[in-house]
Amino acid sequence: MKHFLSIASLKPTQAMDLVLRAKVMKQENHRSSLLKDKVLALIFEKASTRTRVSFEVGIRHLGGQTIFMTPADSQLGRSEPLKDTARVLSRYVQGLVVRTFAQKNIEELARFGSIPVVNALTDRYHPCQVMSDMLTIYERTGTWSDVVIAWVGDGNNMAHSWINASAYFGFHLNMACPEGYMPNTDVLDRALRMGGKVFVTDDPKAAMAGAHFVNTDVWASMGQEAEQKKREQAFAGFCVNDELLALADPEVKVMHCLPAHRGEEISEAVLESERSIIFDQAENRLHMQKAILEWVYS
Ligand code: CP
Ligand code: NVA
Repeated sequence: MKHFLSIASLKPTQAMDLVLRAKVMKQENHRSSLLKDKVLALIFEKASTRTRVSFEVGIRHLGGQTIFMTPADSQLGRSEPLKDTARVLSRYVQGLVVRTFAQKNIEELARFGSIPVVNALTDRYHPCQVMSDMLTIYERTGTWSDVVIAWVGDGNNMAHSWINASAYFGFHLNMACPEGYMPNTDVLDRALRMGGKVFVTDDPKAAMAGAHFVNTDVWASMGQEAEQKKREQAFAGFCVNDELLALADPEVKVMHCLPAHRGEEISEAVLESERSIIFDQAENRLHMQKAILEWVYS
C-alpha cells in the first residue's frame, strides 16, 4: 500500500515519472475505471477550491466516488482522536485525501489506518501543488535541468515542497524570504545533501538573477490570519511586480498556487499579464491529481 505524504517520500525517478504520466493523461483527456467500486473520503480541516474540486473530479474520472468531510460536520471537530478516525474510516472507504494543520496529523492517519493517505496540504508541505507545477514548467521547457526558478515570499508549505522538488528535478531554486520567515533548515539541509541547487537569500532582487519562472504565495497562510498585519510589515519589498520582474530573464513567467492577495505578494498588473501562467497551473492540478491517484492505486 502506498501513501503520498510529501515529495520527499517518493523516489527521484518516481517523481519525474509521475509528472510525465500526468502530461500524457492531460493529452488523452484520461478516463479509466481504476477506482471503480472505491470510495475516497476527503477530510478537509482548511478551506479549498482547487484541491478539493480537482480531487473530486479526478476521482470521478477514474471511476471512483468521494465523501467530503470537515471538522464542522464530523466528530473531528469534537476532538475525536485521529488514530480512532483512521481506524474507523479504514473500514468504510478505500482512501483518504487530507488537508490539515500539522504534518504529524497526516502521518498519524497513515500509521493507524489501513488505507492510502494523500496529502492535500499541511502546514509543512503542499506536494500535489508543486508536482503539478513541475508539469506546468515542463510543458514550456521540455526539461527541468538548467531552469532557474525563483521563490519570493514566505518559507512556508509551498516553499518546502519546492525545496523537496529541487532535490529530484535538477532545477536551480533561488529562494528569497524575509529574515524570520526562512524555510525549515531540516527540509533545506536534506535537499542540499541530495544535490538540490538551492540559493537562499533575504533579498528578492538577488533571487531574480536569470529567473525563468518566478513563484510567490500569500504572506499569511491558512491558520496564520492573526499575523497578517505583522507579516505585511515583514514582507515589504516582497511583492512580485513589474519592477522586480525587470531583473529576471526577459521571457520570465509568473506562477502562484492561488488564492492570491492582489497588491500584497503579487500586483494586479502582473497577475493579469501575459507573463502569468497561473490559470494553466490551476488547470494542471486536475491532471496531476489523476496521476498521483493512479500511482497510489496501481
Ligand atoms: N492552490 C490550492 O491548493 O488552492 P486551494 O486552497 O483552493 O485548494
Ligand atoms: N501557503 C498557502 C497555500 C494555499 C494553497 C496556505 O497554506 O494557506
